[in-house]
This record gives sequence, C-alpha cells and structure tokens, in this order.
Amino acid sequence: MTAAYDGSVAFTLEDLPIRDDLRGQSPYGAPQKHVRVQLNVNENTHPVPDDVADDIVDSIRQALLTVNRYPDREFTELRQSLAGYLGHDLTAEQLWAANGSNEVLQQLLQAFGGPGRSVLGFPPTYSMHSILASGTGTTWIPAQRDDEFRISPETVVAAIRAHQPDIVFLCGPNNPTGTPLEIETIAAAYDATDGIVMVDEAYAEFMPSDAPSALTLLPGRERLVVSRTMSKAFAFAGARVGYMAAHPAVIDAVRLVRLPYHLSALTQAAAIAALRHAPEMLAMVDDIKTQRDRMVTELRAMGYRTYETWSNFVLFGGVADPHAAFESLLERDVIVRDLGIPNHLRVSAGTAEETTAFLDAMRQVAAEQPPVRVEA
Ligand SMILES: Cc1ncc(COP(=O)(O)O)c(C=O)c1O
Repeated sequence: MTAAYDGSVAFTLEDLPIRDDLRGQSPYGAPQKHVRVQLNVNENTHPVPDDVADDIVDSIRQALLTVNRYPDREFTELRQSLAGYLGHDLTAEQLWAANGSNEVLQQLLQAFGGPGRSVLGFPPTYSMHSILASGTGTTWIPAQRDDEFRISPETVVAAIRAHQPDIVFLCGPNNPTGTPLEIETIAAAYDATDGIVMVDEAYAEFMPSDAPSALTLLPGRERLVVSRTMSKAFAFAGARVGYMAAHPAVIDAVRLVRLPYHLSALTQAAAIAALRHAPEMLAMVDDIKTQRDRMVTELRAMGYRTYETWSNFVLFGGVADPHAAFESLLERDVIVRDLGIPNHLRVSAGTAEETTAFLDAMRQVAAEQPPVRVEA
C-alpha cells in the first residue's frame, strides 16, 4: 500500500494477488510523443494514398452494415487475399492472421510453448519476442550472435544442440540491427531441431528484391513458420494486421488457442481492401530504401558506425552518450530509439524531408558530442 496525496491509503497493482513473475515489471512500449519527425518505431512514415483510403472506407462501411453479427471466424477471404499477395503457391489453408504479428507470435507460443517449454532467441532482437515468451510462461533462452550481429548456420546449430529448445525464434531482417538472415541459417536451424522454427519477416519487403524469403523454404518443412505484418511496408500499423504462413497443421494448432472472432469484421474488410491495392500501398518501399541508404552513407561520413541493413531502419554506433543524444534530437523535434545498446541508437528511415531533418539534427549532435570508436 502507498499513501495517496490526501493522506488516505492508495491501492496499487503491487497490492493485488498478481502472478509472481509479473510483479515489478513495466509494460512494454516506446514513448508515444507528439514530435514532428517520428522515427522511433519503424513505422512507414508515408500515409495511405487518398484513393486507396476511399476504397478501404467503402469496404469498412459495407462491413459495418452487418456488424450486429459476429465476423467470419475463419476470415477466409482475408486468408485468400494474403495467400495471393505472398505468392509462392501458398493457399488460404496455409495462412493465418491476427491483430498484428505480435498476436500471431503470442498464439504460436500459446500453442507450442508454455510452462516447462522453452524458446531460443538471438539478442539483440525484437524485444517483444522475450516479453511474449514471459507472458505465456515459456522460458526464454538467449543465445550469442556472431560478429556484426550475424548468425551463421554453425552458430544456430551449436545453440540448438546446447539448449534443445522447443521453439527457435529467428528474425530476418533483424530488429533492431537490420541484419540479413541467410536462408542457409534457417535451413540449418530447421534440420537441427524437432521443434518449431519461426522466422519473423516483419521487414521482408525492404530486403533486396532478389533476396530469397524464408517462404521459399516452406515446402516439405512442416514445422517452419514465417511471420509477416502489414504494419511496416504496407503502411498499416494502426490497423493491426499481422499474419503467418505455415503448414495447415500449424494453423490447426493455433486455432486451438485463438479467441473466437479475434479479427473484427472491420479489420478484415480494411485488410482485404488494402491488399487489393498492394502495389500502391507498397509504392513507397523503394523510396524508403533510398532514404535508409542515405542515412547509412551520411552517418558514416559523420564518423558513426553503421551495419548492413535490409530493413527500414538503421542502427548506428559511436554515440558517446545515447541518452543525451536522444534528448538533444528531441529538442530538435526528432525522435529516435534508444534501446539500451551501449553507444548505439536506432532510427527509422523517413520521407526525404524527415530524413534530412534527422541528418541535420545529427550533425549538431555530432558537434556536441563527437563520435567515439565502438567494437561490434
Ligand atoms: C521484428 C518485428 N516483428 C513484429 C513486429 C510487430 O509488428 P505488428 O504487431 O505491428 O505486426 C515488429 C514491430 O516493430 C517487429 O519489429
């Protein structure tokens, strides 16, 4: 119990009979600030084009007319649309969707993880992976990456042999480093385990166009799961649509833990309409890649350390005091992400103007605190 301002005794969550493993924890989430240049959560900073928005609104309007009924629990039309978008001869039976890929991953852990089971991951990686593990009572096992945040086939196999996890989480391109994930590493991981191998491809559309996706490995690999999202390249973060492709048996397993009607009729209608306009929704991907590459070149010229990135963001090292640099950028109306990696910050590629604003602000930061040498 804590004392409230009026002298009475306030009741807090610490006074509740909450799960022991949640006691003292803080909810996950980057600061949501009203800043002119928001480059902190790897969103697509380009809005949905007007004509596409009109079509999406028409579809939502139509769906609203029958919203007194529960939605299609199997969201069959959406799964067909997603299969069509992904290609690779995928069928609706191999697709599953939820409110963001975070929910897809949570369902996967509910079905294949849980108390007494473990998931292997390779930090630094998407921080929700370990948080979802903890929320589902799955033991998170962190393993070591190679130099420059890479994971070779030998490294992944050694970690699997050492820890015998029930699930392996790989992230390619990796957040927060942007590091490519080689197809050979995924195949080696699959061969080294009898468990589930999940490849988080949230940033797949930002990879070089000739780089193979983990989707190419699906045929004949029944325990492989490829997770994707409409939040990034598709400029649909606020709509909350993530999905996965896997063998239909994996989809059957997830059906056992999903809440009935978890995808609202409005979400389904919006996503189906957006997928009808895939080329237009994805039109900004090339521009974002150009801005990302510009960030890499210019940050390097300022003396910062950058890494190969196949995503829509750049991790850069050599920042003497990341916290002070973050605050200094914020004063200039630019927000980036301080992930607690010593001497590093992460920035999402923005529009040309936003990227210019960030780079100008960074030049001033570099004058305040000159870049330092970092090992990686
Ligand atoms: C690697 C990775 N996976 C999944 C997500 C979650 O995306 P969403 O839940 O919006 O689909 C993110 C978001 O930043 C991410 O970086």
